[in-house]
Amino acid sequence: MQHSAAQIGDALANIDTPALILDRSAFERNGAALMASVNGLPIAVRPHAKSHKCPEIARRQIAAGAVGICCQKASEAQAFIEAGIQNVLISNEVVGEKKIARLIAMAQQAELAVCVDHIENARALNTAAIAAGIRLGVLIELEVGAQRCGIAPGGPALALAQAICQMPGLRFLGLQSYHGPAQHLRTLSERRRAIDQATQLTRDTRDLLAKHGIVCKNIAGAGTGSFMLEACSSVYTEIQPGSYIFMDADYSRNDWHDSGMPVFEQSLFILTSIMSLRDPDHAVVDAGLKASSVDSGLPLVADLVDVRFHKASDEHGVLKRGPKAEKMWLGQKIRLIPGHCDPTVNLYDELIVVHEGRVEAIWPILARGALR
Ligand SMILES: Cc1ncc(COP(=O)(O)O)c(C=O)c1O
Repeated sequence: MQHSAAQIGDALANIDTPALILDRSAFERNGAALMASVNGLPIAVRPHAKSHKCPEIARRQIAAGAVGICCQKASEAQAFIEAGIQNVLISNEVVGEKKIARLIAMAQQAELAVCVDHIENARALNTAAIAAGIRLGVLIELEVGAQRCGIAPGGPALALAQAICQMPGLRFLGLQSYHGPAQHLRTLSERRRAIDQATQLTRDTRDLLAKHGIVCKNIAGAGTGSFMLEACSSVYTEIQPGSYIFMDADYSRNDWHDSGMPVFEQSLFILTSIMSLRDPDHAVVDAGLKASSVDSGLPLVADLVDVRFHKASDEHGVLKRGPKAEKMWLGQKIRLIPGHCDPTVNLYDELIVVHEGRVEAIWPILARGALR
């Protein structure tokens, strides 16, 4: 752990850089907007904690009405459970002896469920759960268009569910049906088309299982780009958006117009400083690839007019100034909007919470680097 970039009470301009800062008011408005948007709908909210990796944020989400959190890795779940979070769905497959041992140990301390998409993994989980004397909750992950994990809907999912129901160490809970790429389709009609297909596959599989006497208590999925569609589908029982709490440059390119979804605000920024200014049009900041993920595009420059983040190398970011931009100066602090919030957060040990221009709190990103 590095020394902290700030102290409580510091002005924004005194925060050392690069640093990850959170606008507390925008963050709170995002949290409230999510809960308000599904208020009255028969849907539970289980935010994805892989976006923030921060138990303080998970506690706040649960206090605001979330039923628990999602994690993506066993070690990530462990960081949250050790910090006192009691209800976790690992929305992913956990394969391998060491990981399963960790999972089973956690399932003895907290309410924990995990996804499966293969009979061999189900058998391994079953054996470990029986040895520990517990029943582990499992959801079958369906492939509904993301071309990532997941078993084919319909017959293959039914066969796996039937096998799981015969396993005394497992408790079949239902289905995980998440369509990741659909979240980032730019227009609502494209997102609706993709989610309608995913929902139909999920509905058909749920009904097929029901015909064979297998009840899906939970049907989980959805992200920031589409969650209202799943929430209104009468198929999903839980939504699991993550990025909504922060937002990022990629999500800002979605068209939210007439989507019936709340328009979330940017609450997460990288604070950076100009460290070189060879001429007025070529400023270099101290945030490069190690301070911001670029998998979904370069960061955007917040606050300044006509200044663009041009390129990133390991420790440097080059800004280009357009004709309408004001003069920049050496040492100037600039806020960047990360291209993609999740992998950017994973680069930092702490979130510096800022309110009205001053540091109000520093929240450790305890699950940072929890990749196993
Ligand atoms: C399984 C699963 N659920 C939910 C999410 C949340 O998505 P978002 O951060 O876009 O809201 C993700 C993100 O990749 C995911 O993999």
